[in-house]
Amino acid sequence: MTWKLTKKNLDNPSLLVDESLLSLGNGYLGVRGNFEEGYSDSYQSIRGTYINAFHDETEITYGEKLHAFPDTQQKLLNIIDGQTVHIYLDDEKFSLFEGEILHFERHLHLDLGYAERIVHWRSLSGKEAKIHFKRFTSFVTRELFAINVKVEPIANIKQLKIVSSVNGDISNFVDKNDPRVASGHAKRLEILDVKKEDAYSMVKDITYASELEVACVTTTKIKASNYTYDSNVTSSSIVEEYTSDGNNPVELSKFNIYTDTLRHGKELFDAALTVHKKIENITFDQHLAVQKEYLDNFWFTSDIEIKGDEQLQQGIRFNIYHLMQSVGKDSVSNIAAKGLSGEGYEGHYFWDTEIYMFPVFLMTNPSLAKKLLLHRYTLLDSARQRAKEVGHTQGALFPWRTITGGESSAYFPAGTAQYHISADIAYSYIQYYLVTKDEAFLNNYMAEVLFETARLWIDTGHMKNGQFRIDDVTGPDEYTCIVNNNYYTNAMAKHNLLWAAKVYQILKENYYDKLKELTSKLNLSEIEVDQWKDAGEKMYLPYDEEHQINAQDDSFLSKKRWDLDNTPKDKFPLLLNYHPLTLYRYQVCKQADTVLAHFLLEDMQDSETIKRSYDYYENITTHDSSLSFCVFSVMASKLGYEQKAYDYFTETACLDIDNLHGNTKDGLHMANMGGAWLAIVYGFAGLRVKESGLSLSPSLPVKWESLVFKLQYHNRLIQVKMEKTMVTYLVLEGEGLTISHNGESIYLESGKEVDTRY
Ligand code: BGC
Repeated sequence: MTWKLTKKNLDNPSLLVDESLLSLGNGYLGVRGNFEEGYSDSYQSIRGTYINAFHDETEITYGEKLHAFPDTQQKLLNIIDGQTVHIYLDDEKFSLFEGEILHFERHLHLDLGYAERIVHWRSLSGKEAKIHFKRFTSFVTRELFAINVKVEPIANIKQLKIVSSVNGDISNFVDKNDPRVASGHAKRLEILDVKKEDAYSMVKDITYASELEVACVTTTKIKASNYTYDSNVTSSSIVEEYTSDGNNPVELSKFNIYTDTLRHGKELFDAALTVHKKIENITFDQHLAVQKEYLDNFWFTSDIEIKGDEQLQQGIRFNIYHLMQSVGKDSVSNIAAKGLSGEGYEGHYFWDTEIYMFPVFLMTNPSLAKKLLLHRYTLLDSARQRAKEVGHTQGALFPWRTITGGESSAYFPAGTAQYHISADIAYSYIQYYLVTKDEAFLNNYMAEVLFETARLWIDTGHMKNGQFRIDDVTGPDEYTCIVNNNYYTNAMAKHNLLWAAKVYQILKENYYDKLKELTSKLNLSEIEVDQWKDAGEKMYLPYDEEHQINAQDDSFLSKKRWDLDNTPKDKFPLLLNYHPLTLYRYQVCKQADTVLAHFLLEDMQDSETIKRSYDYYENITTHDSSLSFCVFSVMASKLGYEQKAYDYFTETACLDIDNLHGNTKDGLHMANMGGAWLAIVYGFAGLRVKESGLSLSPSLPVKWESLVFKLQYHNRLIQVKMEKTMVTYLVLEGEGLTISHNGESIYLESGKEVDTRY
């Protein structure tokens, strides 16, 4: 059970959710868990295939458009449909919504890397067949999405027909009632070419505005005792039919290769054919064996084993698996808020990556984590330009939501105003450096990103009465917008500024040539660096004497408290039921804000302030954002609130599987999935990575027998095993090292288990 997700639903709301849960992806390509043959006509489906970052530019229409509001936004597009396969038992079309279902189950295999659907069906007139679908998106041939269908006739069938098609006439999904999937502009793809060449069905589309092209080149292979073949090319699709007698089993394998002009040059059909040639002798089952091999390696470093709770074990594996399926591995892509599992948030990249998902890859697969940082680096020029557009004289302002670097947020109070994203990105660069000590990275990328983001803070804030203050920004909590001195933003900016000054010093002392190069490239001066240091040291961090907590911002604590206890359940999430201004006027949080700062930068406050702040903000937080529970879980662990830590973790781990936010149909909540990992590793195991080194302060949830996971740190692979009374560390790869366990230094000799009592 813990290595697979099984579903048996056939009702419509559940099927929509299952499309996301059983989606497949490999960082490049994503396919929702649709039925090959579709549902009944009255059922809704978000039938989707996506390529990470493959988008169109759509116009943003404003009632009132003010200076530097973005003109356009980017939108991830649903692309050519290679999923469709219909089966006919004589003249009756197979559908799970007609006839009789003698057996039906479907699974997503987290250790094997494919999804399957097993059906035993009897048609209205009594024709019977067993049908077995398998599908995967390849982890090693990223352009490949393959389907295998086995049909075993059981009774009363004279003729069996399998019809496979590729369709280029595709639109996106729109839900006008939900701002998270409501941008309109559903139809953004035009068909460029549809043809059949030898064994290949070829379809090519182009986007309306960005003029990106995408192609799907498909070949089908059939195993049948004898059959006839026919094909039909229309203006939008290619349909292939295989007809055989009704007595013998038939197996069809469909290999779709997707290419796009962001990565494959201009000749997309040629590029797809080249991939086809490479894999032409590999059977469907052989591909599955390769999937397994890939996953064996993946899980070796990335698995988290929980003994004592099967459901949570399954939940965390499911989350880690989907993170891996969603992460972009090339220079043009990142991880979208919904991964490649749906159209929510239009395929945009947010701070979700740096704060919630990046740490998972950083600690388990640093080379993949580096790719995410390099992708952000490619957006640095756009960020510099954006800073200028909004009126800064210097620095880089990263867009709140984007695909290729342009700001795609139309609502600036909860979008562009979230300046903290620039510090979040800087934070992730610093974390990467602390975990890898990658000096080349520091020289070539990190220094520049830190310097440019530091410049942004200098230009945004100002010194008053000896304190550096930052006015009119929005912190993570989107129910409180455009405020002065948001604690989170100021704390993160402080870290950003001080590290920028530190990195300057590192370059000065060790890499003088590089510093000279950067100095001339960025027109940098020591005076600026002194400013960074000064502003960082004098950063104002709001503190409220009355409550002895960090105020979320200058005005937050003087607002009226929202009466959460008497707010009807159906009014949540509040954002769908109250005007933003109503929300802004109250002390009510959508998500962790100050509490998150206390997690990321715990050394900026004493532990009593952190505890009182947690107690305070917990009572006014709705967790309407899925980015919230996990942070409260991590902090509850730190503060010794064991039950709360566990309860918040449970919500996090099962948020999508149980559709707790009611919108999993629009795609999985990827940041929350990363957050579940954080809740375990930074929460229950108490991991922190600082300049002083790696530290853990483990505390196993009482319900669990044990917890085992691995970490990559300074070229070592370290296994951590937490049991009821003991924690065992083992350096599996690399040299021995000293870490801190519950505040005490211990030396871990390579290859030798080191036991420590709690
Ligand atoms: C959250 C943001 C998040 C975005 C995308 C919003 O609901 O408030 O913090 O970045 O979703 O996941």
